Amino acid sequence: GKGAAMVTAVAYRLAEQSRHIAETLAEFRLTTEQLLEVKRRMRVEIQNGLSKSTQDSATVKMLPTFVRSTPDGSEHGDFLALDLGGTNFRVLLVKIRSGKRRTVEMHNKIYAIPLEVMQGTGEELFDHIVQCISDFLDYMGMKNARLPLGFTFSFPCRQTSLDAGILVTWTKGFKATDCEGEDVVGLLREAIKRREEFDLDVVAIVNDTVGTMMTCAYEESTCEIGLIAGTGSNACYMEEMKNIEMIDDDEGRMCVNMEWGAFGDNGCLDDIRTEYDRAVDDFSLNPGKQRYEKMCSGMYLGEIVRNILIDMTKRGFLFRGQISETLKTRGIFETKFLSQIESDRLALLQVRSILQHLGLDSTCDDSIIVKEVCGAVSRRAAQLCGAGMAAVVDKIRENRGLDRLNVTVGVDVHFILNELAPQCNVNFLLSEDGSGKGAALITAVGCRLRQELNG
Ligand code: GLC
Repeated sequence: GKGAAMVTAVAYRLAEQSRHIAETLAEFRLTTEQLLEVKRRMRVEIQNGLSKSTQDSATVKMLPTFVRSTPDGSEHGDFLALDLGGTNFRVLLVKIRSGKRRTVEMHNKIYAIPLEVMQGTGEELFDHIVQCISDFLDYMGMKNARLPLGFTFSFPCRQTSLDAGILVTWTKGFKATDCEGEDVVGLLREAIKRREEFDLDVVAIVNDTVGTMMTCAYEESTCEIGLIAGTGSNACYMEEMKNIEMIDDDEGRMCVNMEWGAFGDNGCLDDIRTEYDRAVDDFSLNPGKQRYEKMCSGMYLGEIVRNILIDMTKRGFLFRGQISETLKTRGIFETKFLSQIESDRLALLQVRSILQHLGLDSTCDDSIIVKEVCGAVSRRAAQLCGAGMAAVVDKIRENRGLDRLNVTVGVDVHFILNELAPQCNVNFLLSEDGSGKGAALITAVGCRLRQELNG
């Protein structure tokens, strides 16, 4: 009868729903074989970035940083540090004391960078930065000190020395005009001059990965890799000078900023990118660029989730088929919500209340699905990042002709990659404010080298 037909229809619909959800999530589940393939491809791109003949067209740029050693504990002095490229802009005063009791004391102030400044003209951006420094120096009562400064600038830069770096391209949320192709230290120095109020001695430009590695290496000397899984995703490590073909010197090692976020920009990850990854990329500030980063990092994971949820809602499998204004809003799923929602300990009721807070009215079934989606997207991010790291640790191991490698990665998140690079024992060391402390440590080393040269 009619009743039986209806029951059949509902049952059919439910089956269709769970099949669709399972199929969607399956696209985000990578097998060990697939991850090993990602690792292998990363190795190829690393080689392309290091070799003179392929470097021009390489997607993973492997940029020399002119940081030739990790800290040795003798660093000493007061330094200013700037941190640009994460969620906030910060100015810091870092006091490093060497000797029997090594200490690092930090004072910092956070400044917002308004969207119109991030995406305005370069002059406006650097004037704003110098305005913040001015405010900080007033706040600390240090306007006349002419401190050495380390500038953590977390974008790809082609460096020719510790204190010169040409911005290759903006990434993440930045798009200020007239900066790409320019020396960023020059832009900062000019802005300080324009203001005619104080003087600073810019000693080093530093990528956040390098700052993180140096900060961890200060505590633990086996740390020779830095990893960032934040707004963006990137890594650096100590490479043999003889392998860095862009620099003629063959002695010793130098830290290389991989800029691995651009991995995949030549299409080599297309077979594992989903339609949701492509949608996020298409609507980003830099379509076609930073494809690996867009699968791995905080700025984009929430957008992937949102695109999946929209698709499921359109098909009538979620939120009663109603696409709310909230769900249409870009950037609504911040990373912090994402990791809250997918956390194993979080009960479904709490998931519902988070969704409620975001303005999404969910049923209990909805929150189960949302939780699964968040879990699948962030698990894949961690796995992909692990596959990239597996390529790096094996490269270091082979550089040194070792059967086994013990190495420490300075990092701001934890995950497992031992399965993908079984011959390497990888320890993770959580960095404490890598961008600020690291810039100061590098500046200290820079000052010391300068004194040695002049003395
Ligand atoms: C982006 C930047 C890179 C930075 C990373 C993490 O990938 O291009 O320089 O290290 O974000 O902040």
